[in-house]
Amino acid sequence: MTGNIIETGSETPMDSPAKYRVYPSAENFVKFESQKNPVSVPPNSITVSDLKLWYGPVQALKGITLNIPKNCVYSFIGPSGCGKSTFLRTMNRMNDMVPNCKIEGKVMVDGHDIYEKGVDVVDLRKRVGMVFQKANPFPMSIYDNVAYGPRIHGVPKKELDGIVENALRRAALWDEVKDRLKTSALSLSGGQQQRLCIARTLAVSPEIILFDEPCSALDPISTGKIEELMTELKSDYTIVVVTHNMQQAARVSDYTAFFLSGELIEAGETIEIFENPKDIRTEEYITGRFG
Ligand SMILES: Nc1ncnc2c1ncn2[C@@H]1O[C@H](COP(=O)(O)OP(=O)(O)OP(=O)(O)O)[C@@H](O)[C@H]1O
Ligand SMILES: [Mg+2]
Repeated sequence: MTGNIIETGSETPMDSPAKYRVYPSAENFVKFESQKNPVSVPPNSITVSDLKLWYGPVQALKGITLNIPKNCVYSFIGPSGCGKSTFLRTMNRMNDMVPNCKIEGKVMVDGHDIYEKGVDVVDLRKRVGMVFQKANPFPMSIYDNVAYGPRIHGVPKKELDGIVENALRRAALWDEVKDRLKTSALSLSGGQQQRLCIARTLAVSPEIILFDEPCSALDPISTGKIEELMTELKSDYTIVVVTHNMQQAARVSDYTAFFLSGELIEAGETIEIFENPKDIRTEEYITGRFG
């Protein structure tokens, strides 16, 4: 068997006497080796239990429980106002900045409760990066945009060139900008700006990337590039994406969760959600009968 062997410690599931997790190089599933039967179980990157959130008196999330496996693309779908962005933002505590926002329940990232006292939120947001609906490059050069995070985190100057190039390559933007790194990021097209924002996120080596409708302002060609990128990035990162585009969810995601009025109605493998939804409301939504 090929792959990196990592001691699992207490993360080993109860029903498996496994001592090691083996991360196969070709697949994204972990094999728990039992003496009798090897079982394939995708490990969880994010585990959410009974999560409730209020904006003042209004409850926006009504007890969400969901596991997001590592190294997959997980999409969140549902009509406007159902709580997709709110839920996404709980995963790197972006809601902390909203006054009168109250949260109950648990969000675990790699086995650690991110709402526990003493959690370093700056470090959390480095590990759980976010790309927004509207590209938001800083008013500085392309290079400085990508180098911004590493500089803040104290990366030595001599390492920056390599990090910037690598992040731009991974975001499929290097070839388009390598001769104009010192020009303003604001001179890039919308699709290029969005890829720059992805590069900026990648430059601080996150484990998870949250995308909130990253393509809603983009043309089909730029959208295709971002979708390709997500598919490529999932071998190294866990990707969570909010989308209103059903075809996009079906094309890029391994798993899909459908939300309605702050509740999680149904979640599972994308093919199952789209081809064999269990809840009539999911079926009505994906077939365009409401929302
Ligand atoms: N900062 C806020 N203060 C008060 N209420 C908010 C805030 N942000 C969101 N809400 C409310 O919480 C509910 C969920 O909003 P959210 O933005 O999460 O929905 P969404 O599913 O992302 O919608 P869309 O598809 O339109 O982006 C809505 O009723 C919204 O009005
Ligand atoms: Mg939203």
